[in-house]
This record gives sequence, structure tokens and C-alpha cells, in this order.
Amino acid sequence: MGSAPVALRWDEPPEGPVIVLLDQRRLPAEEVELVCTDVPALIDAIRTLAVRGAPLLGVAGAYGLALAAVRGFDVEEAAEMLSAARPTAVNLAYGVGRALTAYRASLAGGAGPEGAWRAALAEARALHREDAQASARMAEQGLELLKELLPGGGFRLLTHCNTGALVSGGEGTALAVAGAAHRIGELRRLWVDETRPLLQGARLTAYEAARAGMPYTLLTDNAAGSLFSAGEVDAVVIGADRIAADGSVANKVGSYPLAVLARYHHVPFLVVAPTTTVDLTTADGGAIEVEQRPALEVTEFPGGMPGEVPGRAVAPLGTQAYNPAFDITPPELVTAIVTENGIVSPVTKTGLAELCARSRSG
Ligand code: MRU
Repeated sequence: MGSAPVALRWDEPPEGPVIVLLDQRRLPAEEVELVCTDVPALIDAIRTLAVRGAPLLGVAGAYGLALAAVRGFDVEEAAEMLSAARPTAVNLAYGVGRALTAYRASLAGGAGPEGAWRAALAEARALHREDAQASARMAEQGLELLKELLPGGGFRLLTHCNTGALVSGGEGTALAVAGAAHRIGELRRLWVDETRPLLQGARLTAYEAARAGMPYTLLTDNAAGSLFSAGEVDAVVIGADRIAADGSVANKVGSYPLAVLARYHHVPFLVVAPTTTVDLTTADGGAIEVEQRPALEVTEFPGGMPGEVPGRAVAPLGTQAYNPAFDITPPELVTAIVTENGIVSPVTKTGLAELCARSRSG
């Protein structure tokens, strides 16, 4: 069983502090590190998905703020630019905001520039650690829920996009639940949606599942329906990029059709996400900004990924493409939201607000 990949780390070589990313655009073909020495480089890495996934975007944003401070950027401006690099995952702005608050408080307390950037860095490190701890708790709670819902064990889980160690300081969210089931010998099959157009399932989840020795099978996104109708799916487990106050879930495009399928086939649909992904200031799904991505990701294959291999056109030149990065699943289709601090099921506005109040008070 291979060790989990390290998606992001802070380093301090003699030339000055940097953020080192495992470049997810190059996986699984190559494990290449991408060194970000400044904020524009990090923003480019975020936009082009070298670093991605909601919890890790939060961690990257927090370290990015510390990087801005230590490298002499205008910190307030850097905070705005970093927060806006991708709009849907609320964790990004959350992580930037936490490090910014620590930075400002340190300055207000009389610290000089050195003390202030170190305060931002300490906050980023704290968020990174908390994320790892949250992963472990989500895995435990998700596994307990699966055991309750599927007392026969031997789970056949369908997942979408990538939600493992590549998106987290720990083992991730939904994939961490599958990993926990695997460790106790109860993961009969992990069905991995390829996740068009950027293939996070095929490139990243399959990579992580293989390293962890999980029994997994890759399918094209549009094969999911036949898998359900053949009775091969016991539960769907996915992550989230933002959960609105009413329990609407924004996640990788293709999640909503899975929720519809799951409901039709009476299969539990579980969303696994840290409480940092819950945004009570966003009222409902309609208020979530869904990132629209370039047509090239759809009109070329593989997905217009930056890298050495140019994409191959699969549509006539100039074809327009509808390419939202995420979709919204309404709360009534979600069986449960599993967080590090508890489970909300059924998913209601009140249940979610109570869970957040408990989390934020302790
Ligand atoms: O566009 P991406 O690859 O950043 O999208 C990631 C997802 O949609 C994940 O499912 C989500 O961030 C949850 S990860 C815990």
C-alpha cells in the first residue's frame, strides 16, 4: 500500500519561503512539484488546477497570504486576488480570510513585518492541521453511517471527482470514507466516475485508489445510470465545494445527475465535507456562483490540460461549449451531510445551522 501523496507544503529554502505543490495537472503520468515563489504563480496554479479541491484551496489560500506578506506584496490586494481566483469553493476565501485576520491582528498588536507574516503562516499551519484532523473525523463518522445504512457491509460505493489526500491536509473527505471502509475490509468496490472534462476521477481518484490498494473500477460519467439499474451501487459518496444555508450542495458538475439517479434507485446519497465548506451566508443553491470554465476543456481531449501533450480537438474549430465546473444538488436529494462535527440527516436549514453553531462555539 503506497503512502498518501503530499499535495502542498510550505518550504523555506535560502532564497526565501515558497509554497510547493504536487502539480495535479500532470498526474498520474508524472509526480512533479511546482514551486510557487509569488502570489501570481499561486493564482495561476489555482486557476489551472495544479492545486484544487475545496479544503486544499482553503489551505493554499492561507499559505498564499503568508507568502504575499513575506515576499513584500500588498497583502490586502493579494487577499482579494487570491480569494477571487476561483469563485465556488468557499474554503478558498475562508482560508485567505483566516490568515489575513491573524496578519492584521499581529500588526495591530505591534508586531513588525516579520512577526506579522509569521502570524499568517502560523494560522495557515493551524488550518492545515485542522483539515487533517477533520478528515480523520469525517472518515470515522462516514464509516459509521455506512454501517448503519448498509448493515450487510461489503459496500459498493460510487464517487465523483477527487476527494482524497490530493484535496486535503489529511485523507480528504468522501474518499477518506472509502479508505476507512477499505481498511476494515468492507469496501467491495469503489466505482470511480471519470469526471469529464478534466478527468479528476480518472487521473486523480484512480491514482489515489491504486496507491491505497482499493478495489476500484473506472467508468465514464454516462455509464453511471446503467450501473445503478444493474443494482451495483450501494451508496454514492461525494464531497462539496460549498454548502448553502438551506443544504444545497455545490460540487463537481455531474454530482446532481448522480443524486437524481440515487433517489430513483433508492440508494443513499452522502455528501462528506468539513464545516468550513458550509456557508450560512449563502442562502440557497441559486445564490452560489458556479464557475464557468473555458470551452477548450470540452472541445479538446484530454480536457485542454496545460502540459506538454497538446489536447486533440474532438469538435469542429469554433464550437461553443457549455462548461460549468460545478452543479447544485438540492437538499431534498441529499440523504446526509457528514462533517467532522456530526451528521445532518435529513438535510434541513435548521439542522445545518445547529451543527454550525455547535462547531463554531467549541
Ligand atoms: O474543480 P475541482 O477539481 O477543484 O473540483 C473539486 C471538487 O468538485 C471536489 O469534489 C470538491 O472540492 C470536494 S473535495 C473535498
